[in-house]
Amino acid sequence: MKGKFITFEGIDGAGKSSHVEWLAEWLREKGQIVHVTREPGGTELGEKLRELLLHAPMHLETETLLMFTARREHLARLIEPALNRGEWVVCDRFSDATYAYQGGGRGLDRAKLQQLEHWVHGSLQPDLTLLFDLPLDVARERIALASRMLDRFEQERADFHERVRQAYLERAHSAPMRIRVINAQLSIEEIRKELQHIVATNCL
Ligand code: TYD
Repeated sequence: MKGKFITFEGIDGAGKSSHVEWLAEWLREKGQIVHVTREPGGTELGEKLRELLLHAPMHLETETLLMFTARREHLARLIEPALNRGEWVVCDRFSDATYAYQGGGRGLDRAKLQQLEHWVHGSLQPDLTLLFDLPLDVARERIALASRMLDRFEQERADFHERVRQAYLERAHSAPMRIRVINAQLSIEEIRKELQHIVATNCL
């Protein structure tokens, strides 16, 4: 038996993180064993790499390699064993984020990303990806309201985030069955209803 792998994606400020835990609880109520995790991160080593990735200036290729390094560890220690036990994994970001941020946002060659993706997870892809989409100015307003220190990605200029958004939408366009676009401007209740509907029809 194989479990289900669901990922959440979107530009910074799309508000996806608040829905991750809620979806996991809903699935648990339906009797599933659900692991909630995130990238970069999800393991002890991955969380250390996350600290570096979010705050230490580095070369674009170093950044990309570290994203995939953290991902390899995450797959080996958490994601693959859980799926093999028939459990669910709900993950806040995965490889679509690398295509959107390092590829779309920073301009890294797509062929390099494909090589790394193939090395790190072969043919494994999320069963379902929920892409939270909203206009950039709304996302920027939400980030501006945050009282915490902004990370290296949140500090990027608007044109960077616009490229990230477009890269995400292009990926959704090329994989419409796997990647479902959620209008992140809807109310929390409306978004939850839509998530329930999409997950129930695609994964349960
Ligand atoms: P996230 O956990 O969504 O940040 P927050 O907890 O502040 O909402 O993601 C951290 C940042 O890492 C986000 O700005 C996107 C970036 N990122 C990449 O650039 N590439 C990747 O492959 C991943 C997984 C994340």
